[in-house]
Amino acid sequence: MLAGIPRPASVPVTRISDVVKHTATSVVTIERFIIEQEKLHPAATGELSGLLYDLALAAKMIANKVRSAGLADILGATDLENVQGERQQKLDVLANEIIIKALDHGGRLCAMASEEEPGIIDIPPNFPCGKYCLLFDPLDGSSNIDVNVPVGTIFSVVRKITPGSRGEMEDMLQRGRQQVAAGYVIYGSSTMLVYTTGQGAHGFTLDPSLGEFLLSHPNIRTPDAGRYLSVNDSYYTQWEPNVKNLMSYYRGQDGNRQPMSTRYVGSLVADFHRNLLGGGLFAYPANRRNKRGKLRLLYEASPLAFIVEQAGGAASDGQQRILDIQPTELHQRTPLFIGSANDVDAARKMLGDAKSASSVSAVGSVGA
Ligand code: AHG
Ligand code: MN
Ligand code: MN
Repeated sequence: MLAGIPRPASVPVTRISDVVKHTATSVVTIERFIIEQEKLHPAATGELSGLLYDLALAAKMIANKVRSAGLADILGATDLENVQGERQQKLDVLANEIIIKALDHGGRLCAMASEEEPGIIDIPPNFPCGKYCLLFDPLDGSSNIDVNVPVGTIFSVVRKITPGSRGEMEDMLQRGRQQVAAGYVIYGSSTMLVYTTGQGAHGFTLDPSLGEFLLSHPNIRTPDAGRYLSVNDSYYTQWEPNVKNLMSYYRGQDGNRQPMSTRYVGSLVADFHRNLLGGGLFAYPANRRNKRGKLRLLYEASPLAFIVEQAGGAASDGQQRILDIQPTELHQRTPLFIGSANDVDAARKMLGDAKSASSVSAVGSVGA
């Protein structure tokens, strides 16, 4: 038995008593919640609040586009679109543009970076610059769009650290623990936005009739050990032996724990969101072909790591805490083990200890 790793408990996620009960005459909108949170910081200027509200607007715009994704071909043939000269765009390119245009003019940002753009996205010279940088994955899991499977948006906000008004690469390449806010939107059976500014992780559900995100999951807490394992098994032959051992442990194949249930959507946001609420682990290990895995540190792993830690979970690359990694490149990749704290701890022990012992047999002795 792995020392210190208890068997998973069937702890319910967000307790039902934690879920806000709106009444017919009183709801907590995301705007109201953001303003209430801002009051906790007497020195706050309102810039971060404005930025979060702009992001919520962008999320609603993207949600609209995602909802009609299956109609793209039909709508693309209408006269209206022809007259306006619009062409159908790939949804991830569209989502990228929506976010940039919703955020570039408000005077809150000094620069942005996106999965869809190779370098820093400057604020246009005719707009004022602010003190924050935004890094984002406009549409996560975009290969799932055509088959009507949930996709998402992920974002990270850091404070500008260089002098001058324009954002620079040094501003972007900050450790995840420097984030001042992070969040994701899941476009699923409902649209949800989950974010943190370091005072818990809070979830909002879009009420389509009001066009507003309403507080539905305040203070999300993730179970310490989870039910679900999310990993793409097709890389099995590419994994190093210590990763294979770890996956055998999660599956209960080594007899040291009850097996986890496998769930893999292929949209990080969707897999992460389910595990955050239900407990479990998302793993995208390095493999022989992709030595640093696939997922991007700055706008996939780091923001979700900030959220999961705020919810009582953990995130590691197998060697160190995701939030402690010093980035060196904008589009840097990282192996990722994220979710319930005990399950991430197992990865850290079986992969981290393995590295220091530099022997697979040493891992086996830990795991067996
Ligand atoms: P993106 O659509 O932003 O490029 O991200 C796709 C990512 C992530 O959402 C998902 O978890 C992972 O790719 C799936 O990769 P595999 O197909 O290799 O499992
Ligand atoms: Mn992605
Ligand atoms: Mn993407």
